[in-house]
Amino acid sequence: NSCRMCKSADERLESFVASKEFDTAFHRTETQKQKCGFGLQGVCCRLCSNGPCRITPKSPKGICGADADTIVGRNFLRAVASGSACYIHVVENTALNLKHVGETKGIIKSEKALNHLAEKLGIEVDDKYEKCVKVADAVLNDLYKPRFNKMELVEKIGYGPRVEKWKELGIMPGGAKSEVFDGVVKSSTNLNSDPVDMLMSCLSLGISTGLYGLTLTNLINDIMLGDPVIRMAPVGFRVIDEDYINIMITGHQHSTFTSFQEKLKQPEVVELAKSVGAKGFRLVGCTCVGQDLQLRGEHYQEIFAGHAGNNFTSEAVLSTGAIDMIVSEFNCTIPGLEPIADELKVKMICLDDVAKKKNAEYVYLDRNKYDEIDTKLINEALEPYKNRRSEVKIDIPKDHGFEQSLTGVSEKNLKEFLGDSWKPLVDLIADGTIKGVAAIVGCSNMTAGGHDINTVELTKELIKRDIIVLSAGCSTGGLENVGLMSPGAEELAGENLKAVCKKLGIPPVLNFGPCLAIGRLEIVATELAAYLGIDLPQLPLVLSAPQWLEEQALADGAFGLALGLPLHLALPPFITGSKLVTEVLTEGLKDITGGHVIVNPDPKSTADQLEEIIIDRRVKLGLKD
Ligand code: SF4
Ligand code: FE2
Repeated sequence: NSCRMCKSADERLESFVASKEFDTAFHRTETQKQKCGFGLQGVCCRLCSNGPCRITPKSPKGICGADADTIVGRNFLRAVASGSACYIHVVENTALNLKHVGETKGIIKSEKALNHLAEKLGIEVDDKYEKCVKVADAVLNDLYKPRFNKMELVEKIGYGPRVEKWKELGIMPGGAKSEVFDGVVKSSTNLNSDPVDMLMSCLSLGISTGLYGLTLTNLINDIMLGDPVIRMAPVGFRVIDEDYINIMITGHQHSTFTSFQEKLKQPEVVELAKSVGAKGFRLVGCTCVGQDLQLRGEHYQEIFAGHAGNNFTSEAVLSTGAIDMIVSEFNCTIPGLEPIADELKVKMICLDDVAKKKNAEYVYLDRNKYDEIDTKLINEALEPYKNRRSEVKIDIPKDHGFEQSLTGVSEKNLKEFLGDSWKPLVDLIADGTIKGVAAIVGCSNMTAGGHDINTVELTKELIKRDIIVLSAGCSTGGLENVGLMSPGAEELAGENLKAVCKKLGIPPVLNFGPCLAIGRLEIVATELAAYLGIDLPQLPLVLSAPQWLEEQALADGAFGLALGLPLHLALPPFITGSKLVTEVLTEGLKDITGGHVIVNPDPKSTADQLEEIIIDRRVKLGLKD
């Protein structure tokens, strides 16, 4: 089985997948090896019935006259708009959940987080529930504005010098949903043909995606789900305990589970599990929502098994046979899970119809019926446990993963950890002990060298060069499952970074959790820049989404470019068929926002390139090199 399988940086995962008969992404990567060249370059257009038109040297224009630049620009804008839409959907639901908490005097897990955010947004009311409503409304009002009305919170949460830059460039976003809407309009048949104009729209979408979909989603979630707490936790398949009724959660909308998570803790619910022979209920983390639960694991220790793995690890997690139910609410719930769930008699439930799975039961998440829905979910989980356990073989590779992995890092607690100031980190950077910072973010894919291979290799190369790595997204799931956040990982770092890790008791790679936490990294970066009194493009900080996967990652990437950061990708987006679009993204943007895209599939030379950028910035800041 294994000879026709994609490789993984996680060897134990790979051998486990190979030992099973299930068809997984690891196998399908082999049958999908032959890629469509036109698709890869972004020069296939099927916007009208004259098409699909494909651009070649002999046929440089589509029937309507669109050239490669226009076609690539339209395809790219469509992808970024879709990605933005996904994140805006997440923040919209998150804000609606907070509003519901305020209106019904529900659970506020962190008043500190509420006060912090209200203060940031300039909201002054005493009553905490009213405060929730006001915060939620401020966010929602911005999301729903027409496109030519600028979003108001950008000025409040965006970094001053950046906001000025965005105004100067005319890319301050209007209402986030309208930006997506007009992005779709612009890229439809025979409308916009100007690739540069469309790329500017991508930057506006990047700003609304980043500040709202990412940053604000985290800050609102902190209120409802509790602030992240730094702690050690086990990771990988070893977290799964067959003595419990195991519910795998997948998606990105953690506040969907607020009520359910509390309910699972209750003694009478534990008794229900015991009545069918289990010790209780456990949530098994998979994809970003698991990563987010891991981040806040301190508050949910009784019911959280731990984080098992990322998007492309989920099929293997299911193949252990120890999962009884999957509850999904958003993406990275891959269709490949469905036949495995059917075969292993695993119940699937979806809590958001945008992510309705073929074989899942859709449960409408009526915010006024949380109790009823929680009870339903609990009863639904009891059934498969009773019925399937005697029929299905359970095989959990208990040697997979690590017993101790540092998790729970946030922009707030990292600063507290350093002594309530960024000074210690800035000092370490200034004297050259830490050369710089790399944010390794985004997804996991199967095509940049194999599952997590580029992410892991690049991270190792960076820490070896005394560059500290902060990670967020499914990339984190891969990094933690190979031990880069566990004790001992410091041995892989350069001498200077190793000494810092030993002194502070931290690994060289810090786990900020889900892709949404790219928003937390943006806060870290802006606070460091503010401390130094400089703009973001001057920082010795680089961004890489080595194994970016989907349209959402492209919208995140657009945010990074709007912030003026160098953005590495192991695989190019589907743009290379346009010289102009490629040139603007990889070069031209340097003079516009300060950011640029670096495409490099080789981890070692990528690390050289990123180190060079960091050193160049150090020199320009007058720091020791
Ligand atoms: Fe071809 Fe133009 Fe139609 Fe696209 S819009 S399919 S390039 S004719
Ligand atoms: Fe994600």
